[in-house]
Amino acid sequence: MKTDKNINQGPLDARAVIGFYHVDLQYKDQKALSNIHFNVDNGEFVCLTGPSGAGKSSILRLIAMDAFPTKGEVMVRGLMASKMNRAKVPQLRREIGFVFQDFRLLADRNVEDNLKFTQLVVGVSRGQIIKNVMRVLTQVGLYDKRHRMPHELSGGEQQRVAIARAMVNSPKILLADEPTGNLDPVTAQEIIDLLFRINDSGTCVFFSTHDHQIVKTFGQRVIVVNDGRIVLDVKRRAPVDRKASLADQMYRGTDPAQTKPTQVANVPIQESVHA
Ligand SMILES: Nc1ncnc2c1ncn2[C@@H]1O[C@H](COP(=O)(O)OP(=O)(O)O)[C@@H](O)[C@H]1O
Ligand SMILES: [Mg+2]
Repeated sequence: MKTDKNINQGPLDARAVIGFYHVDLQYKDQKALSNIHFNVDNGEFVCLTGPSGAGKSSILRLIAMDAFPTKGEVMVRGLMASKMNRAKVPQLRREIGFVFQDFRLLADRNVEDNLKFTQLVVGVSRGQIIKNVMRVLTQVGLYDKRHRMPHELSGGEQQRVAIARAMVNSPKILLADEPTGNLDPVTAQEIIDLLFRINDSGTCVFFSTHDHQIVKTFGQRVIVVNDGRIVLDVKRRAPVDRKASLADQMYRGTDPAQTKPTQVANVPIQESVHA
C-alpha cells in the first residue's frame, strides 16, 4: 500500500472520528475514487449521496478498512489505513456497525438469535447478551417480535432488526449503505428517523443514499459524490426540525430545477451553510 508523501503537510485532524486525506481508490481496472478529502467529528450524522456508481460504497468500505487507499490516508478512530495490519482489523470492526440495502440477516434463525450470534462471535458474556438484545430490540420497537424468523417480517422490520444487530455491541460509528434502497417512502422515513435517534444517543452515523430527494430535507451534513469525486460538502450549523420536514417534503414533491446535479457541482467544497 502506498501512502501520499505529503501526508504530514495537511490537516488530517487527529481528533476526527473519520478522516480522509486526499484519497484515491483504484480497483484492478477501475478508478473508483479521486482525491476524497474530509473529516467527520464525533457524533456527527453524515449523509453521503450521489448517483449509482459514484463511489459511495467504496467510501464506506474504506471507513470499514475493507478496502485500502491506493493514494492518500484514511484514519478511523485514530487507526491509520497505512499502518493497519490484520491483527488490528477486529479491534476496529468492533467499533463499527454495518447496515446494508439487502438487510443480510441470517435466514435460518430468529430475530433474537441473529442478535445473539453477532455478540457470541466477539465473546460477549451470556448475561450481557440477553441485556443487549432487550435494549436494542426495544430501541427499534421489535422486542415483541424477537421470536420471528426473518421471512416472517416486513422489509422495514427486517431492516430495523439489521440496525439493532449493528448497534448491539454499542459501536462508535454506524455505517448504513443505502439502507432505504429496498423500502417504500414511508418505511424509508421510519428507518431514517431511527438512524437520527441512534445519532441522538451519541453514535456517529454515516448514511448513504442515491435518492437526492431524501437528502434535500436533511438538516445535517451532506456530502455529494459524483464520478468518484466530492462535488459538495455542506455542513449545516443549526439542525432543522427533523420530524417536520421529511415526510412532508417527500409527498409534497420538490422543484425539479433544484435537483439538477449541475447546480451542486459549482458549489465550493467545505462550504458552510446556515440552515
Ligand atoms: N470490486 C470492484 N472491482 C472493480 N470495480 C469496482 C468494484 N466495486 C466497485 N467498483 C466500481 O467503482 C465505482 C464506484 O462503485 P461504488 O463505490 O460501488 O459506487 P456506489 O456505491 O456509489 O454505487 C463504480 O464504477 C464501480 O463499478
Ligand atoms: Mg453502493
